[in-house]
Amino acid sequence: MTDTAARPSETATRADVTTFGHFIAGEWCDGVSGATFESRNPADTRELVGRFQQGSAADVGMAIRAAEAALPMWRRTPAPKRGEVLYRFGALMAEHKERLAQAMTREMGKVIAEARGDVQEGIDIAFLMAGEGRRMFGDTVPSELPDKWAMSIRQPIGIAGIITPWNFPIAIPCWKMMPALVAGNTVVFKPASDTPHCAALLVELMAEAGFPAGTVNLVTGAGAEVGNAIVESPDVGVVSFTGASATGKGIAERAGRRLKRLSLELGGKNAIVVLADADLDLATDGILWSAFGTTGQRCTAASRVVVERPVLDELLARLESRASRLRLGRGEDPATDVGPLISAAAVEKVAGYVAIGRDEGELITGGAAANGGDLAHGHFFEPTIFSNVKPMDRIAQEEIFGPVLSIVPVGSYDEAVTVVNQTRYGLSSSVFTRDANAAFRAMRDFETGLVYVNAGTIGAETHLPFGGWKETGNGHREAGHAALDTYTEWKSIYVDFSGRLQRAQIDNQ
Ligand code: UN1
Repeated sequence: MTDTAARPSETATRADVTTFGHFIAGEWCDGVSGATFESRNPADTRELVGRFQQGSAADVGMAIRAAEAALPMWRRTPAPKRGEVLYRFGALMAEHKERLAQAMTREMGKVIAEARGDVQEGIDIAFLMAGEGRRMFGDTVPSELPDKWAMSIRQPIGIAGIITPWNFPIAIPCWKMMPALVAGNTVVFKPASDTPHCAALLVELMAEAGFPAGTVNLVTGAGAEVGNAIVESPDVGVVSFTGASATGKGIAERAGRRLKRLSLELGGKNAIVVLADADLDLATDGILWSAFGTTGQRCTAASRVVVERPVLDELLARLESRASRLRLGRGEDPATDVGPLISAAAVEKVAGYVAIGRDEGELITGGAAANGGDLAHGHFFEPTIFSNVKPMDRIAQEEIFGPVLSIVPVGSYDEAVTVVNQTRYGLSSSVFTRDANAAFRAMRDFETGLVYVNAGTIGAETHLPFGGWKETGNGHREAGHAALDTYTEWKSIYVDFSGRLQRAQIDNQ
């Protein structure tokens, strides 16, 4: 390991230096192998964002040693003091919000307003978790025996392995690292290979905020190498992963063999229900935002609209006219509605599902990659809508992670509920209706971790639990104080001040 690699903020502005390091034990450093990989702008792949270390198991080993060395000091730092570092980090992110947002748009393509929202979500969770430093509640309860004290406290697990996706390259790492750190864990962070620059900028600000050397370690590289080394290490006590379902299942198998704590946030096939009495203008706004925001690349994106037949034609007409007018382009341009997909492979996957959709449903708008004019060098795909899709069709069942929406007509509220729940995923859902009773039924009936009324399926706030039912996850939640459950062990403590032996369950009968 050498420390020749430049700091991200230096390299980001200098055309001649484009190689970024890992960040281990408070130092930017090259990987052991010396191999690097590139990150390119998906809106114009001629634009190189930077070169990054192709991490190896050896690099992960060093990061784990650094995290281990920092752990005794960090876990003994009083939680309110740890919280103050989180607070400073949140404030620094706020100061650098525009720079981070621009870097994000350049690296993964989302439109600039959404990139700012992504950074804001990171700021929000930093401030929320900073406050947890002074809460982190346990229970103090009466003992069943006289002169005995009973209480529970949270303690850190140890080293947290954080493996994050590219679609929220600032928010999701913060969702995971902020609760892990405020609880007293140290971190080994492996970002998606599509967004290593965002990760480097984030970690640089974390160091500046005062997270001590070794508390946060960044190792870039491939999941098969870096991610697996993190999951396989007996020294990593908890792993949190957001990403593809197949990858998550593989991680669950590996972690399960080691009885390792694991939080998974995986796929979605989120539905918006439009009942016959809905405000159709509002529903149209909510559907377009949820289906085509972030180019459909959110776990929470709406990919199904379940609509009552009396309003089907009217809704379709509105969706078609609005969707066909959405402007594709570079995310930095404020006139752009929809940015690129993340990669050529994503375009290929979306095109594959569109081909399937042509057999299963009726193409209403879109349906092709877009590469005319300014789009020629990017991974663009037209916002696409299929109508008359049946609930069990592949395009209504499988996660596409792109701008493809399936409209499923139904005859009643009950049929709508069946369709909403007829999926192996359970992240987000929404209902548009003016009927308060129907809204409350939906809140009760939809089998998802998030339910929206008269709003789309995206836009979760950081102070409520975030996560899904069924195959969307494994029962853990991010955000809110529920996030602490992933990163802490409970310890129940009994103090007997009677001065004599008192046997629970026996001496008080
Ligand atoms: C994700 O897509 O993994 O509710 C996260 C939302 C955002 C978070 C999405 N706040 O859409």
